[in-house]
Amino acid sequence: MIGYVTSLLALLAISIGGVASQHQQEVVCYLGSWAVYRPGVGKFSIENIDPTLCTTLIYAFVGLNETTNTIKSLDPEYDINKKALERFVNMKSLNPRLKVLVAVGGWTEGSTKYSVMSSAASSRKTFIESVVAFLKKHRFDGLDLDWEYPANRGGVPADKENFVSLVKELHREFEKHDWMLTAALGAGKSTVDSAYDIEKLAKYLDFLHIMAYDYHGKWDGRTGHNAPLYAREDETDDEKTLNVDATIKMYLDSGAPANKLVLGVGLYGRTFLLTDPNNPGISAPANTASAFAGPYTREDGFLGYNEICEKQTMEAGAWQIVWQRSHQVPYMFRDNMWVGYDDDISITVKVTYAQKLGLAGIMVWSIDTDDFTGDCSPKKIKYPLLRAINHGLSTHSDKRPHPSLDEDDLTVVDLDVDNDLDDNRYNTDDTRTSRVGGDGGGTVSVTPTLLSILLAFIFTAVLSH
Ligand SMILES: *[C@@H]1O[C@H](CO)[C@@H](O)[C@H](O)[C@H]1NC(C)=O
Repeated sequence: MIGYVTSLLALLAISIGGVASQHQQEVVCYLGSWAVYRPGVGKFSIENIDPTLCTTLIYAFVGLNETTNTIKSLDPEYDINKKALERFVNMKSLNPRLKVLVAVGGWTEGSTKYSVMSSAASSRKTFIESVVAFLKKHRFDGLDLDWEYPANRGGVPADKENFVSLVKELHREFEKHDWMLTAALGAGKSTVDSAYDIEKLAKYLDFLHIMAYDYHGKWDGRTGHNAPLYAREDETDDEKTLNVDATIKMYLDSGAPANKLVLGVGLYGRTFLLTDPNNPGISAPANTASAFAGPYTREDGFLGYNEICEKQTMEAGAWQIVWQRSHQVPYMFRDNMWVGYDDDISITVKVTYAQKLGLAGIMVWSIDTDDFTGDCSPKKIKYPLLRAINHGLSTHSDKRPHPSLDEDDLTVVDLDVDNDLDDNRYNTDDTRTSRVGGDGGGTVSVTPTLLSILLAFIFTAVLSH
């Protein structure tokens, strides 16, 4: 009886701490392990993870030893000596539903090594055997492939087929162990066309994690949003492919089943330096060579949401925040600085979008740039963006299409119904040239309501019987 009460209380604590147990969809949480090296309040240790807000946690990244074609740690001092992998996997003790994966690859690893490894059956076999040993040794529940990208960045056209072979052979092996196999896949049409046989990949992967961000950045030489949901009327045909909706439709049209697609959301923004501070709209001239960096992530052209909301809080009134109606996302600017990013509202709109299409869930890159300390909210609520995702998935779960989608569902997604955009919080911008004024915009966090706590309790009680 005491055991029963204890486990009920433990489950209750989990339910209050997180809402991932209130829905049956995927919340895939990547951690960029190097976030531990960030200074001050930006430093993210394994113990900063809240595993109740995720259904899958992914450790990024490990790499490939090109001499031996085996999986390897990229930071043995942290991963092994400091036991980061072990502490990461141990997060399962705080959420029994949690799956913990390790991601191999990433942008810095490049494509060439993976191209060579996957080109022959013998080297694929060596790699797969090393993966099996690695997952067993470190007690992971599966692997996430982050080869960026087959047939690109030094790869060869045959990569497309070889990637399928690699995935198929991994899948065959993983079935024996009941492990998960997923992949992070790119968003751009030319990358996708050259790199992926989507229909075949979808057959062997448990989930496809769609990296639906990085559509625009300083490299464009004019302001653009990191992850627009929809196109703007004034964009060219090519530009109109650079948004979440276009990417997801492309995957669905290429034969990916909706229930294997996980929509990726960036918990960060991309920064620009305006050429003319009097022209701070979208598609305004900007500096190609340099943008600006944040105090923690320290990467030119990039700001974590934690750095964005810190600026909005500490420099309140200085930043103008604008809601871009067509893209359904916010941007902000101050003097010659400009940032396109996602917040709890634009993320909630994206969650609703994913729900309407019957997608498997939401992926985030990455939890270490959410407001994981809660410093931006008056009540110190940690992880406002992950909470918005879980809240959205719970709230809208009744709106998911049931057994399958018909053509109409794929083309008509009426989002305005659920877009509870608070007009007082943003200046809105239909025309990119408008110079806007008004409040600097505080941040509002999604807090677990009494109702959701009550629901969690009922749900837990039912589950425990
Ligand atoms: C690859 O593995 C071999 C054999 O264990 C080792 O000697 C070599 O240093 C490794 N190379 C890299 C780049 O890690």
